[in-house]
Amino acid sequence: MNTILDFIGNTPLIQIEENIFAKIEGFNPGGSIKDRIALNMIIGAEKKGILKKGDTIVELTSGNTGVALAMVGAMKGYKVKLLMPQTTSPEKIKMVKAFGGEVILIENIKFRKDVINDIKERIKQGEKIVFLNQYENFMNPQAHYKVTAQEILKQMKGKRIDFFVAGMGTGGTITGIGKKLKQKYPNLKIIGVQPVLGETIEGLRSLKEGFVPPILDLELVDEIYDLESIKAEKTRKELALNKGLLVGPSSGAAFYISREIKRNNPKANIITIFPDRGERYLYY
Ligand SMILES: Cc1ncc(COP(=O)(O)O)c(C=O)c1O
Repeated sequence: MNTILDFIGNTPLIQIEENIFAKIEGFNPGGSIKDRIALNMIIGAEKKGILKKGDTIVELTSGNTGVALAMVGAMKGYKVKLLMPQTTSPEKIKMVKAFGGEVILIENIKFRKDVINDIKERIKQGEKIVFLNQYENFMNPQAHYKVTAQEILKQMKGKRIDFFVAGMGTGGTITGIGKKLKQKYPNLKIIGVQPVLGETIEGLRSLKEGFVPPILDLELVDEIYDLESIKAEKTRKELALNKGLLVGPSSGAAFYISREIKRNNPKANIITIFPDRGERYLYY
């Protein structure tokens, strides 16, 4: 018998315009790409024996991983407690709560490293919580290396891929998918997108904050673009109006940079990721 978890993945790949193809991750049941890693990290922890029914999962998340963990947790019988930045969209917070998750808003996500260390310290002191830590957990990029990238290769039906463009949060997407695609196409260029330092594009973060997530393999990344949030937002609105695709700001960012790449490489095939649905950002 199927459960909701069986419908994670197998998202559509849509040609947005000539030579630009986007994986529409909002089709996942929790509405974002993070369903994939939430499930993979939970399965990994179960296999290691560090997560048992009734346990409490604690995670630091800009939102989508929280929604995904709360959804998978509801299905599998885990309590989920999430530390989220105050800039998180109200819709995401409501979704987490609808799945029975608890939300603790924290003031400044720039202190990410300190928050991570604080959770680790609480565990050392004996607090009974399980910290999956998407920034350090290799089950995060593995979900994309093993599954998301394979789906892309299958959906492209042998068509050569020249560029992979992805927004960077934990770095799981760019590392996992990028690695697999580069193994298949060694000349492929991997392009990262981050917000201009000090600006917010929900789900993305700037390496210039000074924190490099341990799972992010920067050796793989050929170039990183800094994008103003207003451009990401404007582009996502265009995607709704012109393409019928209601997606989040990080999708706008990925598409904006994909078009920049196309301008200089008109014959290249570009793959990008639209990480989540737009319904959760309607307050803008
Ligand atoms: C909306 C959105 N876009 C992009 C990303 C970046 O993905 P990754 O964490 O795999 O780098 C995230 C991550 O939280 C996200 O929530």
